[in-house]
Amino acid sequence: MERLQKILSKAGVASRREAEKLIIAGRVTVNGTVAKLGDQAEESDTIAVDGTVIGKAEEKLYFLLNKPRGYLCTVKDDRGRKTVLELLSDIKEYIYPVGRLDYNTTGLLLLTNDGEFMNGLLHPSREVHKTYAAKVKGIPDNGKLKTLRQGVMLEDGITAPAEVRLIERGTKETEDGRLLDWSTVQLTIHEGRNRQVRRMMSAVGHDVLALKRTAFAGLNLQGVGVGKYRELTKEEVTRLRSLYE
Ligand code: URA
Repeated sequence: MERLQKILSKAGVASRREAEKLIIAGRVTVNGTVAKLGDQAEESDTIAVDGTVIGKAEEKLYFLLNKPRGYLCTVKDDRGRKTVLELLSDIKEYIYPVGRLDYNTTGLLLLTNDGEFMNGLLHPSREVHKTYAAKVKGIPDNGKLKTLRQGVMLEDGITAPAEVRLIERGTKETEDGRLLDWSTVQLTIHEGRNRQVRRMMSAVGHDVLALKRTAFAGLNLQGVGVGKYRELTKEEVTRLRSLYE
């Protein structure tokens, strides 16, 4: 047995809150009887909204992809560029990415056909943690690392506190024979602004050379090669749901 509003939202009829309103308005029936808020139902019950019987909830699918460079996180591109969905072409159901990574960002991306799951995890109030490894020009000093931790002023406001660590540094020779310092900065943030990590690093004077998301909501890329994907386990889905339910 499940709450009616949950069944309605899973079936894609409305968000849970909107579904509650439908129930309160007396527009939902279970086996022909008008439902009340708080009622529960089973898969086998006939549930209708305004007299139209809703379809059975489609099977929910959840995947973890290791995105390569040069793929868009949109469902389709009018300029014909490759999209991440091409990497899951053997999945016949309509799925979509949970948030976005830039065209040239690599790493962990979830995909699903569960709209509630996607919206739940992306909602800013949930503060889902995302970890990135940013290879940058130069080596940020302690002052800059502190600024990154405390908050950087960007066009759309100051960033929330982040965990930031310098994890690697080196020097490479450029094509014209100059020596270039680089480093890798690991950042864990819980906001999801557009191009946030690239903008944070540029704001402290260290442009990003390569960016990879290494973790999302406690999941990592272990065992998943670049361009490959795996299904999330039931336990993983349950844990991620508990972050927003
Ligand atoms: N921050 C960025 O700058 N780009 C991404 O793709 C993700 C986070």
